[in-house]
Amino acid sequence: MTTEIHPAAHEEAVVHLPDGYSIRSMETGDYPEVGLICAAVYPGETPYTEAELADHHAVFPEGQFVVEHEPSGRVAGVHFTLRLDLAHFHLDDDWETLTEHDTFADHDPGGHTLYTADMMTHPRHQHHGIARALTEAARGLARGRGLWRMVGGSRLSGYHEWVGRLSPDEYVDRVSRGEMVDPVLTAHLHDGWQAVAPIFGYLPRDEESAGWSAVIQWLNDACPPPPGFDVSRLSRRSNAS
Ligand SMILES: CC(C)(COP(=O)(O)OP(=O)(O)OC[C@H]1O[C@@H](n2cnc3c(N)ncnc32)[C@H](O)[C@@H]1OP(=O)(O)O)[C@@H](O)C(=O)NCCC(=O)NCCS
Repeated sequence: MTTEIHPAAHEEAVVHLPDGYSIRSMETGDYPEVGLICAAVYPGETPYTEAELADHHAVFPEGQFVVEHEPSGRVAGVHFTLRLDLAHFHLDDDWETLTEHDTFADHDPGGHTLYTADMMTHPRHQHHGIARALTEAARGLARGRGLWRMVGGSRLSGYHEWVGRLSPDEYVDRVSRGEMVDPVLTAHLHDGWQAVAPIFGYLPRDEESAGWSAVIQWLNDACPPPPGFDVSRLSRRSNAS
């Protein structure tokens, strides 16, 4: 059985993809492939289960994007989003909190922020502009729904090589200025996101990043957040490092 496709999700988007790839909403039949991508890009983690992916889909179907490699019919990349009211969160809340333990039960249909819970491109398809297209599609959704912004947590996956030599702030600044390359943050910056601030413990078991991530955002020029809702002004958890 396949689930309903939601063409409206990216109807507002201008999505650029190389020949042989197309973008659509996630379907039930994609779940095993998504698990395989997850296992390939996060070898130390338990891949998403079909039940978890079904939860994402049930909560916010138009926010779950898939890029398909047409010649093989395989999934090349995915992007999971939900809407949040960030006033209920801290700047440095972890992934488990922001996704309500991967249930997306905290999805708020009235939330002004489209939160990126995950974006993955299968290693075989990386560097083909898949993440760019997945970002463009989500931006289209945000524009179409009149949302203020997109927000995510970008792993600083190259930071383990710099621990003790550069502070997380210096690392994010230098990557943001293009003086250094981080395999994940650089991709997001090239795809139109801005770094807001480094945070510790977003993905606490992520050894590549030594536990550090950067809050990233994209602001919707047509519907920007009021000044009082600047993400960088969110409070931090009291036990933050
Ligand atoms: C991050 C990730 C999603 C990028 O996917 P991708 O489809 O290869 O990215 P794209 O091909 O769309 O590249 C987008 C831009 O980033 C750049 N880029 C991509 N990977 C890069 C890398 N490793 N180092 C430097 N730049 C990179 C590309 O050059 C491109 O910029 P350009 O168009 O200006 O040349 C992918 O590497 C991935 O799945 N990583 C593992 C999972 C992960 O950590 N996800 C992010 C969770 S926060």
